[in-house]
Amino acid sequence: MCSIIGCLHSDSNLDASITLIESMRKMEYRGYDSVGIATLNDNQILLKKGVGRVSVVNQKLSLNDLNGEIGIGHTRWATHGGVTELNAHPHLSAEDKIAVVHNGIIENHLDLKNDLKSHGIIFKSETDTEVIPNLLLSILNKKNEIKSAVIKTVSKLTGQYSFIAMLKNKSLIGVKNHEPLILGLGPDGYVLSSDILGFSKNVNDVIYLDDEQFVIVNSNGYSIYDFKGNPINLTSTKLTKTFETWDKGHYDHFTIKEIHEQTSTILQSGIHSLNEFNTFFNILKNSKRIYITGSGTSYNSALVAKYLFPKIAGMNIEPILSSEMNFFENCFDEHSTLIAISQSGESADVLNAVAFAKERNSRILSIVNTTTSSLVKSSDSFIGLNCGYEVGVAATKSFTSQITILYRLLEKFNPTQKTTSQLNLVVDAISKILNDQKPVIDICNKLKDVDHLYILGRGAHYPIAKEGALKIKELTYIHAEGIAAGELKHGPLALIDNSTYVIMINPKDDSSIYADNISNASEIKSRGAKIIGISNEYDQIYDYWIPLPDVPKIFYPLIEIVPFQLIAYHLSIERGNDPDYPRNLAKSVTVK
Ligand code: F6R
Repeated sequence: MCSIIGCLHSDSNLDASITLIESMRKMEYRGYDSVGIATLNDNQILLKKGVGRVSVVNQKLSLNDLNGEIGIGHTRWATHGGVTELNAHPHLSAEDKIAVVHNGIIENHLDLKNDLKSHGIIFKSETDTEVIPNLLLSILNKKNEIKSAVIKTVSKLTGQYSFIAMLKNKSLIGVKNHEPLILGLGPDGYVLSSDILGFSKNVNDVIYLDDEQFVIVNSNGYSIYDFKGNPINLTSTKLTKTFETWDKGHYDHFTIKEIHEQTSTILQSGIHSLNEFNTFFNILKNSKRIYITGSGTSYNSALVAKYLFPKIAGMNIEPILSSEMNFFENCFDEHSTLIAISQSGESADVLNAVAFAKERNSRILSIVNTTTSSLVKSSDSFIGLNCGYEVGVAATKSFTSQITILYRLLEKFNPTQKTTSQLNLVVDAISKILNDQKPVIDICNKLKDVDHLYILGRGAHYPIAKEGALKIKELTYIHAEGIAAGELKHGPLALIDNSTYVIMINPKDDSSIYADNISNASEIKSRGAKIIGISNEYDQIYDYWIPLPDVPKIFYPLIEIVPFQLIAYHLSIERGNDPDYPRNLAKSVTVK
């Protein structure tokens, strides 16, 4: 799960390294534990790589000093081998003849490595990647023809991967096999990238390679083939990316900027997909079984759907974690529909879940932010979140856009729901929370040294408790657990003592739930713990209170996540973390 970039400028006075560094900065969301660049100059491969973010490594090693109009770059999220300079990409073949950057996993790398070792190849890193340049070189040495050497190489690799190889004859080879790779075309030459974000303003048109395809790029042009060697004619599309959005504005971090953007992104969610809401409605109402899938935050949205669908539409929807999909073989056939939720549309688990349902003839509907993503390509219909790029690794605005789309969809089933006309009330409430962050900041002060946090919610507030806990884990590195409030007495209560803080989500949206929660709070208090209540109504049982503005009852889940996003953000800063780039994570998880 990394970003790979390749660049071949048509003008030999333009250095590839400049283009690569700009791309790598924007692609760090895919992995940011180490970076590296290789260029070709005077028939020599020049290489610099190191541990850390692009800005850190660039400052230390001056990556931009590497000359040459052709080059490849990489930002890493370690899968095989620790976070070390040796394991950082690019990796070179024997005799430094081929350099490779790679995203994904070569599952049979140990067998290939042993075989290559038996032929005298020495490996320097612990990565699976290093087999690629060595395998390619050993085949190229025998075949001496690039196209057939690539075909032979990929026939020996197993796994889901994409890679770019730079050869000394000034060509780039880009290979796509179930990991993204896009070819960008522009007046200055060619750029290969994992994501359109990697393209600069000089790329005007793009070609999305399909799986099991590769492209050979050199100064004469480019040729695309499938893994059998058949030439492929793919049409290019205009690049419609807006480059201006890549900016923190007056905020210190993307995360807090994106939390604030929710007052507009909620209103914009799905507005370019009005016809698709009808398509979703028609497909869902004719389906015998409906499942909904996602990972991480997007799965928490799916869990919200589990509570909202029966309540508003009177129908059941079953959430399945994307990574667990394989265990539900009997659910899928031509009578079932799977809704996939994803910010990136590139999460490997989600794509695999969709492929699993598709193979069994189920229909696929997706709710997704990146409308050029692989998920969109695999779907029968999709609704776009339309919340703009989410740069912060922790999902914030995409979550509330996903939930809003669920509400908008439910309005189709039950017009009395009146989502669209009431969303202004929701964003007004969120504005109020954002305009007075003092209650949150005061609580962060109390929480900054705790090791554990428990978050309780019932009904549709339970998924919010899970999502709140996920945000706190990711950004603060504090262990946080979202618990269905009624489950507390069935075990977790054993963890509660007088050093514990428990956050209780308790808006007054249903009197019986409200009263049950207050009873739970009392049980917790009797064990000495402190209660932080998140509610539109104060209760004396709370040691601390984060007030929620009033909204129509059904919409509380949409606003009550915001205090958690703020707690996670402020606590992360309090604890000296970088909220935009939490340790060990990446924005887009493109490995299984
Ligand atoms: C949490 C987070 C992750 C993602 C998950 C799925 O803040 O960002 O848990 O939600 O990796 O990603 P998408 O939605 O891109 O499929």
